[in-house]
Amino acid sequence: MLYNSLVGRVTYAEEQPVEWVNPIRTMRVTMDQLFGMPAHFYLGHPTIDVQHEVLFALYHEVRHALQEADDSFEVADVFLGLNLYVATHLQFEEEAMFATGYPDALSHRMGHQDLREGIHTLYEEFLNASSLEESRTVAARIAVFLYEWLENHIAKVDRVLCRYLLDHAFEG
Ligand SMILES: [Fe+2]
Repeated sequence: MLYNSLVGRVTYAEEQPVEWVNPIRTMRVTMDQLFGMPAHFYLGHPTIDVQHEVLFALYHEVRHALQEADDSFEVADVFLGLNLYVATHLQFEEEAMFATGYPDALSHRMGHQDLREGIHTLYEEFLNASSLEESRTVAARIAVFLYEWLENHIAKVDRVLCRYLLDHAFEG
């Protein structure tokens, strides 16, 4: 039962497998993808670690959408979730920096701005794409952009912030 729920399905006796229903409507990730954040991205701050897990889940969503071979290409839905969640997460970190007087807040916030603007620009390109092929090309760039940003920002810049927040007993 535990294993089944971790791989995204709950199986009852004499019933067909039931798809796991994700609380974020635009996401179709399985539980193993949701918890699929590589170990070196865990920073020890419980709230921020969970938020980063969701960002990774959205990254998996983009990749999943790219693997869909039919016309039901749903990156637009993923984008909605990505835009909303990126805004929520970055706001959380920025409020935490403000609340604790984090000394490197300005440059950290500039890093956040890169993500906001990068996602926004790619979203515009996605909306203006004139073919499915072009949409897929933009989606592939989104996946690369998002992963590179996560790799650079979380594993390096957020690591310093989380240490500071833990030292200042900020849990959020
Ligand atoms: Fe950050």
